[in-house]
Amino acid sequence: TAADILKELEEKCATPVSKLRQISDAMTVEMHAGLASEGGSKLKMLISYVDNLPTGDEQGVFYALDLGGTNFRVLRVQLTGKSSIECQEFAEVTIPPPLMVGDSQALFDYIAAELAKFVADESEKFQLLAGRTRELGFTFSFPVMQLSIDSGTLIRWTKGFSIEEMVGKDVVQELAKAMKRQGVNMRVSALVNDTVGTLAGGRYSNKDVAVAVILGTGSNAAYVERAQAIPKWHGPHPKSGEMVINMEWGNFRSSHLPITEYDNSLDADSLNPGEQIFEKMISGMYLGEILRRVLLKMAEKAALFGDTVPPKLKTQFILRTPEMSAMHHDTTPDLKVVASKLKDVLEISDTSLSTRKIVVEVCNVMATRGARLAAAGILGILKKTGRDTVRDGEIPNTVIAMDGGLYEHYTEYRHCVEHTLNELLGDEVGKQVKLTHSNDGSGIGAALLAASHSQYA
Ligand code: BG6
Ligand code: GLC
Repeated sequence: TAADILKELEEKCATPVSKLRQISDAMTVEMHAGLASEGGSKLKMLISYVDNLPTGDEQGVFYALDLGGTNFRVLRVQLTGKSSIECQEFAEVTIPPPLMVGDSQALFDYIAAELAKFVADESEKFQLLAGRTRELGFTFSFPVMQLSIDSGTLIRWTKGFSIEEMVGKDVVQELAKAMKRQGVNMRVSALVNDTVGTLAGGRYSNKDVAVAVILGTGSNAAYVERAQAIPKWHGPHPKSGEMVINMEWGNFRSSHLPITEYDNSLDADSLNPGEQIFEKMISGMYLGEILRRVLLKMAEKAALFGDTVPPKLKTQFILRTPEMSAMHHDTTPDLKVVASKLKDVLEISDTSLSTRKIVVEVCNVMATRGARLAAAGILGILKKTGRDTVRDGEIPNTVIAMDGGLYEHYTEYRHCVEHTLNELLGDEVGKQVKLTHSNDGSGIGAALLAASHSQYA
């Protein structure tokens, strides 16, 4: 019966504290390995070339491009040098899906054309000083092997993107070529991952920000590491003694992860089989799809939705995480929201209350597993940086800048991350560790990093 399948799912997805501790320990071990040598771990632990985070003294008008989340954005910020951001203006569009799997020229031309439009509409006020070029921070939310703060080659695509010929190419050069074709005169002065941008944006307003985590379409984290603790770094020793590391934790994998048949089949059918296993268990692109796979099994093996299997339920990615979230948060006594989502999205009507309850329970199991694993990942970073314990009678204050649609909109998930982290840290340390939502921090962070790496600075 469906109840049996549910029970089995609950058992397989269980994440007791003991298991979460094993997972966070494994995360810490992989962090060390990834920092020791290139290719030393599934965790790439990428060097960001950001060795100074914004101070608040940055001044001037800077631009940011943000590619890789749900939406593509262009923004402009005016920095006045007193930790204040005078003005921000946005343009936001969704990337047409065919461009995500087409060719790089088409994708970059599209981006550059949006940039051209944005600049063309600007008022006189933003005209630059004679002879100056506009400077841009480029948030590119994929794994990139950086060669400097303003260059880097794509290691591989993740999430819904897949443009093979782009792999190995310099992201900044591709954008520069497209800007030239589109007649935009701008210079990329910083290329950053969204986690690195979020860290920089978070630090600007709060000096205790030491870690940034994205829980959105994909998932990843960045943090401030001691340069001394990065054996694979052979460059000049940064004055600050620090370096921001983009972990690419989405690709984490461990035998302790509670992997189910649904995860395995999702992975096998994905654009990137065998990769981003952690991301596929915790992030927004995949949660709804795991739910669909469980419901499909319940429909096929236990007639959850009646004698025939609803045809729509066989379509990959038809059930998205926002719909899952809406069903999970349904507080009406007869689960009206669940009924309407099942009808609108999957064309399943006339479900019984007990069926709808099962659906909510599956949402709960999958979201809880994802959120608790994310908290275990965070604990791994706190351990690696010694922020998880009392040291010499003191506990450092740590603020973790969080962003991403999943964290922002899926309340149950967010609460579960928060309370699991507290459960893992205990009250005393837990009090010193805070999660803050850094809304669009990554775009602002990229503009700030463009400012601190400005050629006119
Ligand atoms: C946005 C950031 O707020 O969150 C992006 O500006 C980031 O840089 C994104 O990629 C992640 O969330 P989502 O849900 O859009 O993938
Ligand atoms: C994916 C990308 C990573 C990004 C994350 C969140 O995991 O590989 O670079 O930070 O999604 O957007």
